[in-house]
Amino acid sequence: MKDKQHKYLWWQEGIIYQIYPRSYQDSDGDGVGDLQGIIKRLDHIQSLGITAIWISPIFSSPMADFGYDISDYCDIHPLFGTMEDFDELLEAVHDRGMKLILDLVPNHTSSEHPWFKESRSSKDNPKRDWYIWQDAKEDGSEPNNWLAMFGGSAWEWDEKTQQYYYHAFLKEQPDLNWRNPEVQKVMMDVMRFWLDKGVDGFRVDVMWHMIKDDQLRDNPINPDYKPHQATYEKLIPAYSTDQPEVHDIVHMMREVLDSYDERMMIGEIYLPIHKLMTYYGTDQNGAHLPFNFLLLSTDWDATKIASNINQYEGALPDGGWPNWVLGNHDQPRITSRVGMEQARVAAMLLLTLRGTPTIYYGDEIGMRDVPIPENEVQDPQGLNMPGLNLSRDPQRTPMQWDSSENAGFSNNKPWLRLPDDYRRVNVKAQLDDKYSTYTLYRRLIKLRQEEPALHIGDYRPVEAKAPLLAYLRYTSDQRFLVLLNLSHKPCHFAPEHFSFEGTIEIDTLPEREGGRVSGHVSLSGDEGMIIRLDQS
Ligand code: NOJ
Ligand code: MG
Repeated sequence: MKDKQHKYLWWQEGIIYQIYPRSYQDSDGDGVGDLQGIIKRLDHIQSLGITAIWISPIFSSPMADFGYDISDYCDIHPLFGTMEDFDELLEAVHDRGMKLILDLVPNHTSSEHPWFKESRSSKDNPKRDWYIWQDAKEDGSEPNNWLAMFGGSAWEWDEKTQQYYYHAFLKEQPDLNWRNPEVQKVMMDVMRFWLDKGVDGFRVDVMWHMIKDDQLRDNPINPDYKPHQATYEKLIPAYSTDQPEVHDIVHMMREVLDSYDERMMIGEIYLPIHKLMTYYGTDQNGAHLPFNFLLLSTDWDATKIASNINQYEGALPDGGWPNWVLGNHDQPRITSRVGMEQARVAAMLLLTLRGTPTIYYGDEIGMRDVPIPENEVQDPQGLNMPGLNLSRDPQRTPMQWDSSENAGFSNNKPWLRLPDDYRRVNVKAQLDDKYSTYTLYRRLIKLRQEEPALHIGDYRPVEAKAPLLAYLRYTSDQRFLVLLNLSHKPCHFAPEHFSFEGTIEIDTLPEREGGRVSGHVSLSGDEGMIIRLDQS
């Protein structure tokens, strides 16, 4: 049991909501979402019960990777608005008692960033060492076998200065050399720029990529590579990612944050549990929340999910705060992975687990991945590796607000197309519908925010017998039993060594709410319920 005197912080008690800014709300009719658009939709976010908004990059960028290629870290892309718009947004968010988290992309810049332009201008430019430059091997080939996440070699030949530079993603996204103290300093200054403005934290892009092996050794071959996978998977990135020295950098960032009040940092990290945990740092001197992507990668199976929850809970370091993610702009949406009905059960899972939940925009109305015809694909990951179905456009489509033309997103043709069913599946249609996914989300969030057992309470597994997952969330005052049927078929919960009595508080089948249960329960297919247990 957690110490009652302990003060929990907003990022522990609260709920995070991710906005992909191109797709949330367009205010100026160019078909692309913008900051004024977000301001216009803050009511929606607030009435959902969100604590903090994380916005994917809004900075100056040639948009080769839709903003994850930054050419000025301290300016706003005109597509999204101006610095005044940003200040207005920050103030409006704060006025509503919410927090704002920005996306920090420290691993790489755009090739159009003035730093890179200088760096590539000559071998003896003072900024040459700000990036990772290497001579060719004797035969002219790349310095090592490292591959880019978006296909092909991670090395790009520079004709003018006769060296290769390293890029983990696109060649338009050269990696910074974080071993260089000037790079470290300039990025800490970037953090301070936004923190001074009052930004509440950062989601740090590809945190585990930031430092590479100092000898640039070849990555080993991945014996499990399958041809349908991205070419990047051919190697195990043992030397290009997750190097021990990365923790010094994370710690350096943490110190900057700690010199302000209650600011925080989320790390984007795709690593196995035991590696992920190291990003909390020694004695909590690392990331506040290393993103936990287990629910994105685990098969939708009660035993496997339970085992992962338990492994994760068990591996957390002392004082490490858990967190859970169901979707983001890089992954297929939850509805498209487990289906519409199970996505509701998944929402109940996300919002009843111990640890800060992050909700991806649109998931609150059950938006699905939208099929984007081949000739409309925009995502470089899709364009560079055609035929592998790797485009991330389908999960980045405009928010479906209402049934009007362009779904209330824009008065012009949206940058990505809407699905055929948006007139049915939209916020407006779901607002007052007791049975809608929106209503389910809103009520789950409300209950979580109201009940200490759910936002700061302990977690205890009760049973995981496919298809049923059962666990408890509790404080000394209140216990909730969560039962989730992860299949479409009915199932029965009749635990041998656990007796209970209580009232169904929230059910994906609202007709059952208020019902009394004791000892055993039958569940319909795709049903999840939260039972408020009687206190004996
Ligand atoms: C991770 C981001 O989430 C993704 O969208 C981007 O393409 C890469 N990092 C490169 O910045
Ligand atoms: Mg716009």
